[in-house]
Amino acid sequence: ATAGRAATPPMGWNSWNAFRTDVDEAKVMGTAKVLVDSGLRDLGYRYVNIDDGWWLKRRSRDGRMQVRTSIFPSAKVGGSEGSSFRPFTDKLHSMGLKAGIYTDIGGNACSQAYDLHSPNLPEGTTAERQIGLRDHVQQDIKLYFADWGFDYIKVDACGINVYGADSPVVKQYKYNVYPPLIDQASINRTNIPAVRALYQQVADALAASNPDGDYVYSICAWGAADVRSWGKDVGNLWRTSGDITPQWSRMLHTFDSASTRALYAGPGHWNDPDMLFVGHGDFDVHHLTEARTHFSLWAMINAPLIIGYDLRHAPPALMDIWSNKDIVRLNQDSGGHQAVLAYDSDDVQIFVKTLSDSGTKGVLLFNRGLVPARITVTPAQLKMVGDVALTDLWSKKTMMLAGDALTLTLQPRESRVFEARGKRQLADGMYLSEIPGAINI
Ligand code: GLA
Repeated sequence: ATAGRAATPPMGWNSWNAFRTDVDEAKVMGTAKVLVDSGLRDLGYRYVNIDDGWWLKRRSRDGRMQVRTSIFPSAKVGGSEGSSFRPFTDKLHSMGLKAGIYTDIGGNACSQAYDLHSPNLPEGTTAERQIGLRDHVQQDIKLYFADWGFDYIKVDACGINVYGADSPVVKQYKYNVYPPLIDQASINRTNIPAVRALYQQVADALAASNPDGDYVYSICAWGAADVRSWGKDVGNLWRTSGDITPQWSRMLHTFDSASTRALYAGPGHWNDPDMLFVGHGDFDVHHLTEARTHFSLWAMINAPLIIGYDLRHAPPALMDIWSNKDIVRLNQDSGGHQAVLAYDSDDVQIFVKTLSDSGTKGVLLFNRGLVPARITVTPAQLKMVGDVALTDLWSKKTMMLAGDALTLTLQPRESRVFEARGKRQLADGMYLSEIPGAINI
């Protein structure tokens, strides 16, 4: 079965970067209200996704996953059902939003390994304690979509040895609380197909539970098991790296893991460098240059724009970043062409993104370093001919690239994002995806 829709990169909010496993219904619904009231929803931020920590760490006797109703009170329903997220998703849908849920491809998610919500330490058999999709793919997917009404699912990889049993990552974080799902001692090139097959089973179950095809399937296998080569055939987005953190260097690392893979992206399938950390750490309200750069980079490479901040307490300066509609428009362009690297030297990079509107491109100049840098941009780098008008998508000012070159000075970690208007060098209609094996802009 083919994956769901995601014709443009998914946009919305996820609980993880803001709340980790301290997620609860008041926080999620408070955030949802801000999405609506602030206009972010109408800009496209529609998915409200809950991440790790929503479940009781024990299935019911008939194998059903159970919601932690102590933190999601609306899920408390009577009778044999015990708990249901249906009132929760109904509420989000009535607000014009969509709902996302989280699970794992193996027997446990990462919170078990970290033991992040130990107050719920379970009694019961090993089978009852398996909260991932292991041995429950059909049952869980039907529950989440057909019964509970979710629209989006993120499927993590904490319950399988996706990096290999002997990897330092597995040892350090004690992933795989339950016996590994895949028989071989480690994931290597020969059992990559086994990882793919597990994720494919979910794709098939999703197609069966969603006859209208309107859902999003997010594969969270951290760039391992060669997911880049099969992700687009199985899901709508796939993580290209381990987790982002609110640190500049880590943001660059996850960005690089996705920005170098433009050929894998297109409508319905997107590289995922992980969720936004705008508002936290190196990207907080005191570091607006870095925060704008982080957001602009994600927009240019067609990354999902999933906000990771407690929106109930977001200062206007941060709201201005997520709600820059011109930059959102670059990300959501129907052509789905991921930006490609047009120039790269030491700390200076230029990315160019072909847009569906003939004669326009997105252009990003980026100073990755810690000292000011002069960046020269030419029509040739943009694969444009003649005069080019460059409109800065933050200041909205337009300048001309009329001669051979335009040189700008960028502050440390600063980026400038432009919409370029002019004449394309490449004939209209010739896009990246139509030139097999070629990177072209
Ligand atoms: C993994 C994922 C994260 C998040 C956590 C939750 O680390 O990559 O995005 O979902 O698990 O425990």
